[in-house]
Amino acid sequence: MATWDATSVIIAKRDHGELPDEAIQWFIAAYTDGTVSDEQAAALAMAVFLNGLTGHELAVWTQAMIDSGDRIDHSQLDRITVDKHSTGGVGDKVSLILCPLIAACSPLVAVPQLAGRGLAHTGGTIDKMESIPGWKAEMSGAEMTAALLDVGAVIASATGDIAPADKKLYALRDVTGTVPSIPLIASSIMSKKIASGTANLVLDVKVGRGAFMTNIDDARELARAMVDIGNRAGVNTAALLTRMDQPLGSMVGNTLEVDESVAILRGAPFDSRSSDLIEVIVALAEEMLHMAGVDANPREVLESGAAHETWRAMVRAQGGDPDGAMPRSDHEHLFRSPATGFLADLDALSVGLASMRLGAGRSKQGEAVSAGAGIEILVKPGSAVTEGQPIQRLLADDPAKFPAALELLEKAVTIADTAAEIPSPVIERIR
Ligand code: URA
Repeated sequence: MATWDATSVIIAKRDHGELPDEAIQWFIAAYTDGTVSDEQAAALAMAVFLNGLTGHELAVWTQAMIDSGDRIDHSQLDRITVDKHSTGGVGDKVSLILCPLIAACSPLVAVPQLAGRGLAHTGGTIDKMESIPGWKAEMSGAEMTAALLDVGAVIASATGDIAPADKKLYALRDVTGTVPSIPLIASSIMSKKIASGTANLVLDVKVGRGAFMTNIDDARELARAMVDIGNRAGVNTAALLTRMDQPLGSMVGNTLEVDESVAILRGAPFDSRSSDLIEVIVALAEEMLHMAGVDANPREVLESGAAHETWRAMVRAQGGDPDGAMPRSDHEHLFRSPATGFLADLDALSVGLASMRLGAGRSKQGEAVSAGAGIEILVKPGSAVTEGQPIQRLLADDPAKFPAALELLEKAVTIADTAAEIPSPVIERIR
């Protein structure tokens, strides 16, 4: 590969130029191996933040991030691989239910999901799964292949060297004000997803107060950028835009979210507080099965409880005990409705931050999280409430954490005189 001069690449993007493919490829490789300094990479990230990347530049940038590390090969599986990625939300335990559901829908498909840990107000799939006694997130390539053949679904943390350029660049963006850039977010997410080897991918792009993208136009632009990157890289990619103004389902927290997931996996009748969650799961499942060419009805399969056996096999394949006692927090506090009327709103961001303050989430990478802490939403928006009625159940390992969480929750709740219309959580599909 030709050697470029980092300063010239930065200046070209600073001055709104379109970067040659080789310049992008060289810069990303040289940043990964340390030839390009953090200062220079930060300057280029800021130039991209301000001036963007064209669709072609973005495809080359993402491919260079993929090429910085390993790409998992699932081609030896005689199953069609299909995965899902969410841009992150509050109470978003979709993967825990969706992965076994897809596998339960057809023996022809496999879901090879590499997931991450939570940060700030959003929970991480790996943190939730780690509440299960004995469950291990790390799997070797051979173990993953065996589980995909045997069970049809895996949720694991990224092993080996998946997109190391992204690891360095994300840490740098975090401290240089360059995280909220659509091309940088799109290339970061898609480099990891494409490197993880799936043939088909459905993106759940969250939009609303509890999401990365707070307005629909930005969410649509991010979704289109990611769909374009995936399809250019040969991964059949589609996206759903889904609402994240209110927490999804009835539980926010690690063990709590496993509880809600298992209750749904056991089949109908479902708790009505989980209706929005189930709607998102079914919409994503329909999209994934459509892509994989499988004719199945995911709602019926979910209602039947058949995915519960797949879940149990999935947990066991990673050393977990699906019947084991999960860690619980000892201290409980009931948050009561301040008035009589209708619960018109429950702000997802405040609930996510309150759950973090209770110990369920981390404020910086590497921090430990409490498995048992979190919030059970006893009353969902749209329901009638009376003054003093418990509307949320807070759980913490240390009762001293309640006041800081309550301070946020008091502002998160809106009680109105009339019932508010709660819109469907699924907004639109982008194929
Ligand atoms: N998640 C990622 O993986 N990367 C980003 O840039 C933002 C969210």
